[in-house]
Amino acid sequence: MNIESKLKLNDGNEIPQLGYGTFQSKGIEAYQGVLDALKEGYIHIDTAAVYGNEKEVGQAIKDSGIPREKLFITTKLWNDNRGYEETKQALADSLERLGLDYIDLYLIHWPNPIKFRDNWQEMNAISWQAMEDLQKEGKIKSIGVSNFQPHHLDALLETAKVVPTINQIRAIPSDLKEDTVNYCLNKNIKIEAWSPLGQGELLENDIIVSIANKHSKTPAQVCIRWSLQEGYIPLPKSVHKERIIENKDVYDFELTEYEMNQIKGIKQILENNSNNPDSINY
Ligand code: A2P
Repeated sequence: MNIESKLKLNDGNEIPQLGYGTFQSKGIEAYQGVLDALKEGYIHIDTAAVYGNEKEVGQAIKDSGIPREKLFITTKLWNDNRGYEETKQALADSLERLGLDYIDLYLIHWPNPIKFRDNWQEMNAISWQAMEDLQKEGKIKSIGVSNFQPHHLDALLETAKVVPTINQIRAIPSDLKEDTVNYCLNKNIKIEAWSPLGQGELLENDIIVSIANKHSKTPAQVCIRWSLQEGYIPLPKSVHKERIIENKDVYDFELTEYEMNQIKGIKQILENNSNNPDSINY
């Protein structure tokens, strides 16, 4: 395994298993972070319309000089945008900000936006149809979802012609979402893990720290390695070059089955536990 190792998606496309996250990266920090990540060998970058950094991400991609086809870029449909034309327009706007003519992965960011709480099933179905058509047009390579639970996926699959390739959720120790993960595994939907470091909160956990010490690695590296060995696609975020380098240096050690289970069993009260997608106020 190395930073370019890929997993095969259910539509036949491949995704680099380690990605670079940009949630909460803004302005020049977002630009420099993505540029550093690309220079350090990351080939998979995750952004979203709502992060407000697509312009900077796109500029960094351009300035990196790396050929487009070597890279895997994800962005997401925000909660205000549902409907057929609205979805097509939202993707067009994202592509324009990114300076790209196609995206590798486009995700519905949340299943049940407050704006569509009365008819989210129908609105997701219509947006999904637009995404399927955009895929046929070549503007999107793969389509998927984010923060979906089994009942959201059940609703989507009632009319979907294309099964989502990905569900991007917060699959981390203490916030595992096993019912969603198992549902996705059964349908060959890969799990992307947003905030695989628990937004930093897991890095002081005693179990993580002691396993890190045993392997002479850092807590962040243990969290990322755990996610990779689980078969997830972790998207760690950092705007610091030394951490960007640290977070990809995860291929020279292996967690034992016992350590994997120890980490999986961590029960820590996380301040930033992910919100219930059916009661978010956005
Ligand atoms: P920063 O961006 O200032 O480096 P997550 O990916 O789970 O959302 O976690 C991101 C948070 O963890 C950010 O606050 C980030 O800070 C911090 N972080 C990222 N990588 C590391 C690391 N290797 N060591 C310590 N903190 C890190």
